Amino acid sequence: MTALDATHLALRFEGVTCTFAASTAAQPSFTAVRGVSLRVAAGEFVSVVGPTGCGKSTLLNVAAGLLEPSAGHVQVFGLPLQGINRRAGYMFQTESLMPWRTALQNVMAGLEFRGLADARSQAEVWLKRVGLGGFGDRYPHQLSGGMRKRTSLAQTLALDPDLILMDEPFSALDVQTRQLMENELLELWASRRKAVLFITHDLDEAIALSDRVIVLSAGPASFPIGEFAIDLPRPRDVAEVRTAPRFIELHRAIWAVLRDEVLKGYQQQLAA
Ligand SMILES: Nc1ncnc2c1ncn2[C@@H]1O[C@H](COP(=O)(O)OP(=O)(O)O)[C@@H](O)[C@H]1O
Ligand SMILES: [Mg+2]
Repeated sequence: MTALDATHLALRFEGVTCTFAASTAAQPSFTAVRGVSLRVAAGEFVSVVGPTGCGKSTLLNVAAGLLEPSAGHVQVFGLPLQGINRRAGYMFQTESLMPWRTALQNVMAGLEFRGLADARSQAEVWLKRVGLGGFGDRYPHQLSGGMRKRTSLAQTLALDPDLILMDEPFSALDVQTRQLMENELLELWASRRKAVLFITHDLDEAIALSDRVIVLSAGPASFPIGEFAIDLPRPRDVAEVRTAPRFIELHRAIWAVLRDEVLKGYQQQLAA
């Protein structure tokens, strides 16, 4: 049996198309992604890379159940997805902490919502795991960007989702903080082995983190144009792995596919 057998799939897209209706009658509708089929096995770390505006967030929103595709099917652990994806936890690119709640209260929020009696102690454990044990009583504005991301990570993982959806979660961070966070994410992932769908426009990040990298074409109507197994040994240090000859080989092979799409995406942005 391969890891991608249907029974072991955390997430399955079959022919997913997302067309957005025009805001005025004079405008045409816009198809962001067309006919996208992709799979994430239980416990697998999969990244989707593609140029800005190609439909990565659109796909993540579909996986989260926040956006219903215009055509195609989505299955989560073998069942059709209807409404919000309750097996999944999300981490978005933008800040998602509630400014009026402390770090601890932010991490607790989802646990309380689930009615857990020990929400506070679980949240405390998770804050410690992301290195913020002593910062629970700080409000988001009293934390650095990296600490806020750690809080969001704790908030997402505390709910123990079987599928973690991440949309460029570290792109706003400086390089060093980002590498620290990536390593922490890998450690947490290795200890719990949840399925991850990770969206990024950064190929280095995608290779360093993933078991598999899927390349999307430039939009509109983008779709996967390449899929690469990342056979680098784990555990990985994201800074060190970048210098491995195999990493460089994989980077070269994937970039050969991604490069033209990035150029197309760039030209579209200039023309817009
Ligand atoms: N709600 C929407 N209505 C109309 N167009 C949208 C909507 N959401 C996204 N788009 C368009 O779909 C394309 C893909 O967007 P997005 O998924 O955010 O790209 P990415 O995350 O890869 O940068 C973009 O051209 C964007 O403008
Ligand atoms: Mg996006």
